[in-house]
Amino acid sequence: MLEPERIVRLEDDAVVVLDQRRLPDEEVDLVCRSSAEVAEAIRTLAVRGAPAIGIAAAYGYALAARNGEDLDAAVAVLAGSRPTAVNLAWALEEMRRFDGDPAERAREIHHEEVERCREMAAHAATLLRPGTRALTHCNAGGLATGGYGTAVGALRAAWEQGLLEHVLVDETRPLLQGARLTAWELEEAGIPHAVIADSAAGLMMARGEVDAVFTGADRIAANGDTANKIGTYTLAVLAAHHGIPLYVVAPSSTVDLATPDGAGIPIEERSGDEVTARFPARNPAFDVTPAALIAAIVTERGVHRAPYAESLAGAA
Ligand code: MRU
Repeated sequence: MLEPERIVRLEDDAVVVLDQRRLPDEEVDLVCRSSAEVAEAIRTLAVRGAPAIGIAAAYGYALAARNGEDLDAAVAVLAGSRPTAVNLAWALEEMRRFDGDPAERAREIHHEEVERCREMAAHAATLLRPGTRALTHCNAGGLATGGYGTAVGALRAAWEQGLLEHVLVDETRPLLQGARLTAWELEEAGIPHAVIADSAAGLMMARGEVDAVFTGADRIAANGDTANKIGTYTLAVLAAHHGIPLYVVAPSSTVDLATPDGAGIPIEERSGDEVTARFPARNPAFDVTPAALIAAIVTERGVHRAPYAESLAGAA
């Protein structure tokens, strides 16, 4: 498993991220020497995944403080890099409020996020029966969280307990976080897996080859509506049709009690070039899964069931 510092770290004069755009073919560091360069790394998905961008932003803030940058401007540029994952705003608020060495708080946030992953993975593993064949979407692994992973962390824990048989990995069009990153992490962990085209998920469910779906989240509204990588909503509808539980695994830093429901979650629309450079294209990067389609939301505090307005109330 990749060490947390390998994924993102603060050095004396830089924030260094493992450039996820180059994975799995090349393991190359990207060195960011200002908060604006960290924001660009987040915007261009060199570092990605809700908790990981929060951690990178925290390190970006600490770097800005060391550089003597205007901290309000640094917060504005970092917060504006991506809109959907609430972890970004959450981490920057934590940094702003901290009255001490920013580097120390940023490293603490990183450490705490990885710890939260391990705790939620242990809770999530209780949801699997022996022999579970899981399906996952996007990458909610160590790369997305600064270490260990949320949904992939749950699969790791279940594998270690002998509960997991196999994982189907949605390739996750258009940027292939599943085919490039999740498959790479599962391979490294020795967990049997197969990448499928996103559009194959329905057939695999209909054939009885999926027992449960596990995904991460970018923002969970107070009522449980959950934003995650585009295609998660489609999976949720398919899973409901086939009577298969869909579980969302995410830290409390992803729960946004200030947003009452999914309608209030901003959805990032990225360049159509990521879909096709030849024709006009639309590229919404996230969608919202209604709470009614989610069997349980797992945080480091435990397994939360509907009604989420009550069960999540103390989770953020
Ligand atoms: O656009 P990305 O790759 O940042 O999208 C990431 C996801 O949607 C993940 O599923 C989510 O952030 C959870 S990461 C633990």
